[in-house]
Amino acid sequence: MVGAEGGLDRAGAGDGAVRAAPPMWSSRLAFILAAVGSAVGLGNIWKFPYMAGTGGGSAFVLVYLGCVLLVGVPVLMSELMLGRMARKGPITAMASLGRRFGGTPAWGLVGVVGVVAAVLILSFYSVVAGWALAYVPKLASGTFAGADAARSAEAFGALLADPAGLFLWHSAFLLATVLIVMRGVRSGIEVAVTWLMPLLFLMLLVLVGYAAVAGDFARAAGYLFTPDFSKVTPELVIAAAGQAFFSLSLGLGAMLAYGAYLPEDVSIPRTAVVIAGADTLCALTAGLAIFPIVFAHDLDPAEGPGLVFVTLPVAFGGMPFGSLFGTVFFVLIVVAALTSSVALLEPAVAALDDRTRLGRVRLTVGLGAFAWLFGLLTVFSFNIWSDVQPLGDGRTLFDLIDWITANLMIPLGATLIAVFAGWVLGREAGRLELGLPPGAVHGLWLALVRYVAPLAILVIAWRKIVG
Ligand code: TRP
Repeated sequence: MVGAEGGLDRAGAGDGAVRAAPPMWSSRLAFILAAVGSAVGLGNIWKFPYMAGTGGGSAFVLVYLGCVLLVGVPVLMSELMLGRMARKGPITAMASLGRRFGGTPAWGLVGVVGVVAAVLILSFYSVVAGWALAYVPKLASGTFAGADAARSAEAFGALLADPAGLFLWHSAFLLATVLIVMRGVRSGIEVAVTWLMPLLFLMLLVLVGYAAVAGDFARAAGYLFTPDFSKVTPELVIAAAGQAFFSLSLGLGAMLAYGAYLPEDVSIPRTAVVIAGADTLCALTAGLAIFPIVFAHDLDPAEGPGLVFVTLPVAFGGMPFGSLFGTVFFVLIVVAALTSSVALLEPAVAALDDRTRLGRVRLTVGLGAFAWLFGLLTVFSFNIWSDVQPLGDGRTLFDLIDWITANLMIPLGATLIAVFAGWVLGREAGRLELGLPPGAVHGLWLALVRYVAPLAILVIAWRKIVG
């Protein structure tokens, strides 16, 4: 019966009076674009370069690559696999797999934590994406032409100090996210990523080309790729691992939700490698677009979170065609963020769609409105509530939400997903879903999700919370 419904849906007759079968990506490529769209976001273009910059360049890059391969890819495979096995939103998926393999639907709590975390992340993600949106007209109108570091810092400070402005850009971005998710998996998300992802890749290439011509490319490449093991510290490993999880969108059930729409004949191990490879390539390419420009102007690569919003505009302001390419750069950030924010909203919508009769449109609008209102905490944390510092030493409400989601909820979700895939799910059930023959590759995956991933994530989370 399920098969017949699925067949109907794939034939395009899904929206009948009967509750429709779960939607399905129209092809492997469509799925890969959506998953890469989820992975490539602010994490790649804003966070990765500044973390690499403050983490000593190549030392960070090297450790990061290790984390992606050893922990990122196996957990990504697990999430996609669990999603496709259950073909439900994250909460119902984990609950029903839990009942089937672990004897208890309590595993659904993993989905609950993930969905809550995703909506919380969306609330501040949208505010930061709003900064990039605000910078598009700024760059286009030549605001930064000839600006020095002080004037650029002042412009960024003025943006953060203006709650109404931040609120407006945040609202515009979140509205765009809601409008896409509202239309559903195929006509919303898939259509959006089919247009936006090629545009994103194109802009990234254009910017690397520009950096190669107008910037100090050799110094940037040396900075990012000359290994220097002396800078590898436990703190660096922890930061790199956390970044790998965030960048691959793991631990929140987001990949689980996207995996639920994955056609049966797609190989999960191969697809996971493609997604992780593309995500990493985009992060490195973003570094190669940013650092040559930073170095050409003798600016500081270790500037921190302000790298993209303070340092880079100074560089663009002093370069031929800087306004043009600067505008492209901030459009790139907005596009990357948008394909990620739809993936932050979709899991929650899918989860509640399984469990209520409200329908996708109402759920999307309701959850979007929640993230929008909750985002006000982030908006105000930069101005009127900047002295509310729950974590002490200058760390605001925004830092608190970021900290709870990134250091507690993502590691917790990722550990439980790895444990479920490695220990609770039957060995054979997992192997068959992954489409792996019995042997070394399957054994390696199993060892990584059983031992390496849970231990690594727990140690990391522990150090972050205690240290
Ligand atoms: N991967 C996204 C980025 O790098 C951020 C992110 C984290 C995310 N978890 C997610 C996006 C879940 C979508 C779904 O910017």
